[in-house]
Amino acid sequence: MRILVIGSGGREHALAWRLARAGHQLLAAPGNPGIEAVAECAAIGVAEHARLVELAVGRKVDLVVVGPEAPLVAGLADELRAAGVMTFGPGALGARLEGSKVFSKQFFARHRIPTAPFTVAATVAEADAAVERISALGASGVVVKADGLAAGKGVVVAHDAGEARAAARAMLEARRFGDAGATVVIEQRIAGREVSVLALTDGTRLEVLPAVEDHKTIFDADRGPNTGGMGTVSPAWITDAIQSRIRSEILEPTLRGLRAEAIEYRGVLYAGVMVEPSGTPYLLEYNCRFGDPETQPIMARMRGDLGAVLLGAARGEMPVGALAWDARVAVCVVVAAAGYPDAVRTGDPIGGLAGIDGEVTVFHAGTARRADGQLVSAGGRVLGVTALGLAVDQARAKAYAAVDRIELAGKQVRRDIGARPMIP
Ligand code: GLY
Repeated sequence: MRILVIGSGGREHALAWRLARAGHQLLAAPGNPGIEAVAECAAIGVAEHARLVELAVGRKVDLVVVGPEAPLVAGLADELRAAGVMTFGPGALGARLEGSKVFSKQFFARHRIPTAPFTVAATVAEADAAVERISALGASGVVVKADGLAAGKGVVVAHDAGEARAAARAMLEARRFGDAGATVVIEQRIAGREVSVLALTDGTRLEVLPAVEDHKTIFDADRGPNTGGMGTVSPAWITDAIQSRIRSEILEPTLRGLRAEAIEYRGVLYAGVMVEPSGTPYLLEYNCRFGDPETQPIMARMRGDLGAVLLGAARGEMPVGALAWDARVAVCVVVAAAGYPDAVRTGDPIGGLAGIDGEVTVFHAGTARRADGQLVSAGGRVLGVTALGLAVDQARAKAYAAVDRIELAGKQVRRDIGARPMIP
């Protein structure tokens, strides 16, 4: 098949790498220097819908895989389908599961999907009242979420009611996230351990992928501000019993809910789940696309023809059980640029990649090629160093050995990816 992957991050490099290994011919837009090794890249941005549709039609691609959430929320998949292009990714209606926290929380409530108690607020007075109501439910804390997309920064886990009120005010009054924060969701914090569970769907069937644990903050031991994700481990620590509850209590009711609301959903349902110490899973949020850096370890372990499964999903006839999994554990350690996640410094030369091979794959994210050919940093998360090992400790050791060879001035790396016990 000829497959067009849209996006330019580590997730898209991992997807293109896996699809190319299954023998498909890859196009990417815009891609990055890592993706260039496996795909022909077109310099078209993810917001340039008309040009992307023209590329897909003009190059007669068999399938488009849309990587990031922004073009999905903005309706790119609908435009591609309207032009007759097979597309893996939900349309704008389905993408509201990620694009609007208000829509998604109300959807969870409508379909009895376990989630934290919440209130929607559009004014400071409503927010103050909501913080009071949610605080009264228990001492676990209050979470404030901007309704719209905020580049992964729109969620504040407040330590007390005052902090929660201030966070809501910053979104509603000071418009910290622009219009994305014109409405907020205020909800109870659930205490537990988080896990990402991604499922492929054609709107009827589910192919639940092995669970992944992400490490969201910039510093070790979950300290510092949140990032898009600093490293991942798959399979994650959850038991088969917990995985099965996530499927039956969260993913299956979601699919039934989407169908009941006549929303055709062909893409990834990525559930961000908090598992209480008792083993009870609560849905924190949905993303409407592959996770980043969750996709890197998933693709490292995947066997079988992903292209055939994604095309099947795009057609509404997804084969289930066609993918197989390497028995080894995969660990992805993100190498981030100086300043990330705030004022990112770019343009630093990257070295030390030659000679990294074997069971380690370096997925490019924020990289660019200078006119003289030098690879340089071009974004916050620069590389995703992904290693396979018989056990998590072996995978970690290989990933960190490769990370330590990589030269990047001011590089930031968490040293504790995969260090937490693999038990609930
Ligand atoms: N790793 C978190 C995300 O993809 O949103």
